[in-house]
Amino acid sequence: MPILAGSDPAALDAAAEALARGELVALPTETVYGLGARADDDAAVAAIFAAKGRPSDHPLIVHVSDAAQAERFAAGLPPVARRLMEAFWPGPLTVIVPRREGIGTAAAGGQDTIGLRCPSHPVARALLARAQALGVAGVAAPSANRFGRVSPTRASHVADEFGAQLLVLDGGDCDVGIESAIVDCSRGRPVLLRPGVLTSAQIEAAAGEPLHAPDGSAPRASGTLEQHYAPHATVRLMPLAQLRTALDVLPADALRASKGSNKLAVYSRSLASVPRGLRLARMPADAQAAAQELFATLRDLDAEGVTLIWVEDPPDEPAWAGVRDRLRRAAAAGR
Ligand code: TXA
Ligand code: MG
Repeated sequence: MPILAGSDPAALDAAAEALARGELVALPTETVYGLGARADDDAAVAAIFAAKGRPSDHPLIVHVSDAAQAERFAAGLPPVARRLMEAFWPGPLTVIVPRREGIGTAAAGGQDTIGLRCPSHPVARALLARAQALGVAGVAAPSANRFGRVSPTRASHVADEFGAQLLVLDGGDCDVGIESAIVDCSRGRPVLLRPGVLTSAQIEAAAGEPLHAPDGSAPRASGTLEQHYAPHATVRLMPLAQLRTALDVLPADALRASKGSNKLAVYSRSLASVPRGLRLARMPADAQAAAQELFATLRDLDAEGVTLIWVEDPPDEPAWAGVRDRLRRAAAAGR
């Protein structure tokens, strides 16, 4: 199956029918592209785990068209989950809530909780509506990348990961660029399992109570593994001063060697130039713009054969929490 235009009603119908038959479909969301299967069919969901190479006890997010559809999967919605859904749906926020018995077992990785998200991307919404009309209760969709790798933010990234067999709906470049914030609402007090572009302050204001940090009792969750979101290149994070020093002392032979199969790139907000022979990728000064470009930049550098990326630390500010989190994990993977 080729990449199909998500704006084409015939393509949307074909994708919805494929989902209804229990097949995999890659779909755009405002955060990243997802690899979807109907969440109410454990055999269909098993194909996601197989395609991604993801351990089947790592739970997936179920995408729904609204709160009513969310309730099909939930054993009651905790009040804090309701408040967050009202504030941020449709949008880049996932809530973890108690799971209704007998549905979404495979999607939940066997957990008695389930992750639910209502995406805002018009193609995702159109697909969910059409699939729902065919009896699909919700679409389980992890990011459409192989396990541990950088999430895809454009249709071609998905095709690069899974080849031409997969039906991919093209919805353009994702606006948000990093995955949704995940708030576990199943444990009595809200726990931020994964930061996204929404700030903690925004989430707390809507929740009406403070967010807590994970205490280790949450189940294994790929997006919260220390080494995740890794490009093939090794990533090193450093403060600007250290980056400048490292570039100053870089020996000429290292620069000469930084070609062909052993290439060094610098990913920085502050530097306007780097020594000859190095690749400079500019990081936008705005946190949202930086998030939007982050994964595509890492993929571009991989495609250029870059083997080592020196990254200037993003600002230690709330708006940058999502970008900092993804870069920290990418750097941990190379250690
Ligand atoms: O923005 C997003 O959230 C994207 C798009 C496609 O919606 N999806 C995404 O899915 O990032 P995935 O599977 O790559 O990451 C979802 C994270 C995983 O770390 C998963 O383990 C966690 O959510 N998760 C899902 N259900 C959970 C549950 N019941 N308890 C704890 N963690 C859960
Ligand atoms: Mg993922």
